[in-house]
Amino acid sequence: METELQVYVNGEYVPKSKATVSVFDHGVLYGDGVFEGIRAYSGSVFQLDPHVDRLFASANYIQLKIPLDKDKITRVILETLRRNKLKDAYIRVVVTRGVGDLGVSPESCREPTLFVIAEPVSSALGPKEPKVVRVIISSVRRDSVDATTHEVKSLNYLNSILARLEAANAGADDAVMLDSRGFVSEGTVTNVFAVIDGVVYTPRTSSAILHGITRARIIRLCRELGLKVVEREITPFELVSANEVFMAGTKSEILAVGSVNGRLVGAGRAGTTTKLLLQEFTKLVTKKEEGTPIYAEESLEV
Ligand SMILES: Cc1ncc(COP(=O)(O)O)c(C=O)c1O
Repeated sequence: METELQVYVNGEYVPKSKATVSVFDHGVLYGDGVFEGIRAYSGSVFQLDPHVDRLFASANYIQLKIPLDKDKITRVILETLRRNKLKDAYIRVVVTRGVGDLGVSPESCREPTLFVIAEPVSSALGPKEPKVVRVIISSVRRDSVDATTHEVKSLNYLNSILARLEAANAGADDAVMLDSRGFVSEGTVTNVFAVIDGVVYTPRTSSAILHGITRARIIRLCRELGLKVVEREITPFELVSANEVFMAGTKSEILAVGSVNGRLVGAGRAGTTTKLLLQEFTKLVTKKEEGTPIYAEESLEV
């Protein structure tokens, strides 16, 4: 019989079938909480510290006190992977406001809920051609930086979900959203890049994007490879007319965009810059200095 995944829930490791949260949890009632999606490649967790830092920054913004410190959360993540004997995994860390009454105010919530899920996943990185997706520009605008800003990786994903539904209704794979001013913001779960005349452009943080960890690493990678990379506003016209468009995120990795609103991008296939970045990114994810080894230390009870 297959052994069940073990999930960390509020200090205990429990089988997946018993990993539950209360219906009175404000994460469920109001989407009041924050999370991270992290990836492990070949026994090492990619960019673990930036993910843990962002989790704390998100929690700080919504005045949510995470019950464990950064070091302890890191250990819980590693231990969850070890308990499930995982080397290549997708990890979800969620902290909610916790159980309270039915009022929206967080005051009734005494203890945050913290859980960590790690499940096996295979990677689309490698020598293969990047996956090509068709996107639409959604009519759903990204929540602005002075509203429920997407700089906070919160449990409020309705914005992305509405855009995904719109994409599915239009027969596309995904959507790109615009910011409140009409500039390109980001994908539903990815940051966006456009290659125009050999320069790699990506929206700046003022376009209400999540400060993507893959985005940051790709910007650095471009510089390491001698590619010019510029963070600036991108118009819908520029996106549609770009030589190459690609999207990047922890779970999606790197996806080439073949068409935007039915217009082919370049030849409708992954372009040379996208291919190069995919190849080089593939080398990075298993590099010692980019990751935290899962099995280097003795299993510590956390
Ligand atoms: C809305 C949104 N933008 C961008 C990203 C990419 O961020 P990262 O590279 O940190 O995974 C994500 C990842 O989940 C996301 O949900």
